[in-house]
Amino acid sequence: MTDAAIIDGKAFAAGLRDRVATAVAGLKRDHGLTPGLAVVLVGEDPASQVYVRNKGKQTLEAGMESYEFKLPDTTSQEDLLAKVHELNADPKVNGILVQLPLPKQIDEQAVLAAIDPNKDVDGFHVVNVGRLNTGSADALVPCTPLGCLLLLRDYFGGALSGKKAVVVGRSNIVGKPMFNLLLQESCTVTVAHSRTADLPAELGQADIVVAAVGRPEMVKGEWLKPGAVVIDVGINRIEKPEGGTRLVGDVDFAGASKVAAAITPVPGGVGPMTIACLLRNTVTAACRQNG
Ligand code: GUN
Repeated sequence: MTDAAIIDGKAFAAGLRDRVATAVAGLKRDHGLTPGLAVVLVGEDPASQVYVRNKGKQTLEAGMESYEFKLPDTTSQEDLLAKVHELNADPKVNGILVQLPLPKQIDEQAVLAAIDPNKDVDGFHVVNVGRLNTGSADALVPCTPLGCLLLLRDYFGGALSGKKAVVVGRSNIVGKPMFNLLLQESCTVTVAHSRTADLPAELGQADIVVAAVGRPEMVKGEWLKPGAVVIDVGINRIEKPEGGTRLVGDVDFAGASKVAAAITPVPGGVGPMTIACLLRNTVTAACRQNG
């Protein structure tokens, strides 16, 4: 088998951001509407600060309004809920994202439940989880699995029906919504996880693999079915033998690219799709809120 094709998420995300910007320009011109995204960051987590900065920058580049709220590490649950209620009531704010993880004193589920489901551009509210699960057109879909789906639809030219897919990982943020999205595309979907008895046997059947376990290079090339299409959601920083660090996915890229038909690299695969899908969800939310 020759080396796998590289699925260029970075380029696809750039194209998606352009399409979002075009849609935003149309909303401004035809409806006088500028979509707005509010991002709330509690505390000083360095990785979260980088995400939030990138979100703000790309929101502005797409022609939308960005509202950023940085609250101290010591913020009480009551104060954070008050901020969420204020944003729910603000008509200029079409999308609300509360950056996770939150400090220990705050109940994450209570905060997510307080967000207006129609402004929940992360798709984490139980109402949106239920909408996705029941196939409702009103669902706002979590950004990372949505990005994976858009890459898969593009690669297969929409022809996902009947494919065998294995999702590795059962998180609320990626694994479970990915299961629902692939099921809706009429794939036959298996969700594997840390207690799966024989992961290589499951993966050996899969036309599509989505790896989202958060364990560096855990999925080996020799476990894959020849010709599989591999979407690697992992972003893990590991030590290099010669010193320093590098980013790797949840899939052993070198091994997998000898067996797979196509694979997303890390970095430059799924990563850039997440914020692009957040912008897309914000436009979707703004359109629905304004009829
Ligand atoms: N922290 C890391 N990724 C995300 C995300 O997609 N949404 C939120 N709210 N927090 C995150």
